[in-house]
Amino acid sequence: MKRIAVLVSGGGTNLQALLDAPDLGGRVELVVADRAGAGGLDRARAGGIATAVVAPADHPDRAAWDGAVLAAVAAADPDLVVLAGFMRVLGPAFPRRFPTLNVHPSLLPAFPGAGAVEQALAWGVKVTGCTVHLVDEQVDHGPVVAQEAVPVLPDDTAATLHARIRAVEHRLLPRCVALLCRDRVKVDGRHVTVLPA
Ligand code: GAR
Repeated sequence: MKRIAVLVSGGGTNLQALLDAPDLGGRVELVVADRAGAGGLDRARAGGIATAVVAPADHPDRAAWDGAVLAAVAAADPDLVVLAGFMRVLGPAFPRRFPTLNVHPSLLPAFPGAGAVEQALAWGVKVTGCTVHLVDEQVDHGPVVAQEAVPVLPDDTAATLHARIRAVEHRLLPRCVALLCRDRVKVDGRHVTVLPA
């Protein structure tokens, strides 16, 4: 069983999908949030999983916060880190130290950064979706492991569209984590190949 650390900022429905996945090939050992009010922390506690809060306000500067996140995660000795709705940018040392997956609510490279669902609506695209990718030193940039399209409907609001995207994320993210846990992901530059079981 691989050891997994999950970083969250929000409600943690993607974390819940990982906790509920029957065949992940790994166990979530630690959940780290950047704020004490993150709903994901309650989900972790309910699952009996260790938690930590590393808030930027508790650290003198960006580098100190980065170091504190790294130390908190390293304490769990994870094989894999998952950013599941983690809304801050980690320093470059992080993906160098841990294989790290991120889930993002758009078809990258479209609409990177914050507010991806709002950006898609404002642009008027007819299709958006979600991306699970390996984290590198740039924001929402690393090699893509999986993507799935979600249609934008005429009456969509950010809330309705994001709810449909989340439903897809809840399938896609555990599948990608399971592939990594089973060493079935081969990376060659930007290109990810899924190896046969
Ligand atoms: C998810 O839709 C995830 O893709 C997004 O935050 C949401 C978290 O939902 N992440 C980003 O926008 C990262 N740039 P959750 O807290 O319910 O899992």
